[in-house]
Amino acid sequence: MNRIIKNISAISLAAFLNVAGRSPACGQQKVSEWKAPAGADTIKNPLPFNEESIKKGKTTFTQFCVPCHGDKGKGDGIAGAALNPKPGILISAKVQSQKDGALFWKISTGRNAMVSFAPSLTKEQRWAVINYIRFLAKTENKK
Ligand code: HEC
Repeated sequence: MNRIIKNISAISLAAFLNVAGRSPACGQQKVSEWKAPAGADTIKNPLPFNEESIKKGKTTFTQFCVPCHGDKGKGDGIAGAALNPKPGILISAKVQSQKDGALFWKISTGRNAMVSFAPSLTKEQRWAVINYIRFLAKTENKK
């Protein structure tokens, strides 16, 4: 008897999640905004913003980020098209208004399809990629 009740509640829970998880407009799940903890803002970028760090950052960006975020950081990479949530638009005001420390925390921590890059990239590579994202925003948003 108990087992039957358990099975029934598992089925109704699954049905409930299936309905509750979908927004009526597009059938995709609503995802809460991704915020770095306030403390992350105080982590300082140890690299100067110069040609050398931007160049290093570009190499990493091309290899690890372009597939999802697109070559100009517009969130339009081919591997990102089917993702929910979508890859962020890295040159947008929403991303650019975040401190280097917050971006470093996100790149190092990851969420959903955006994996943690702490195991695959050195700290220097992660900071350099942030400099490249800043550089991309400066050049792309001027156009
Ligand atoms: C497999 C696809 C994928 C790859 C590869 C990827 N990202 Fe992401 N990225 C995402 C997705 C999806 C999100 C949104 C995650 C969320 O909100 O849960 C995201 C979010 C971000 C954000 C936060 C944007 C915001 O709105 O605050 C930053 C910063 C970022 N990515 C940087 C990078 C960098 C730098 C690289 C390369 C080192 C990279 N990503 C590689 C998919 C990817």
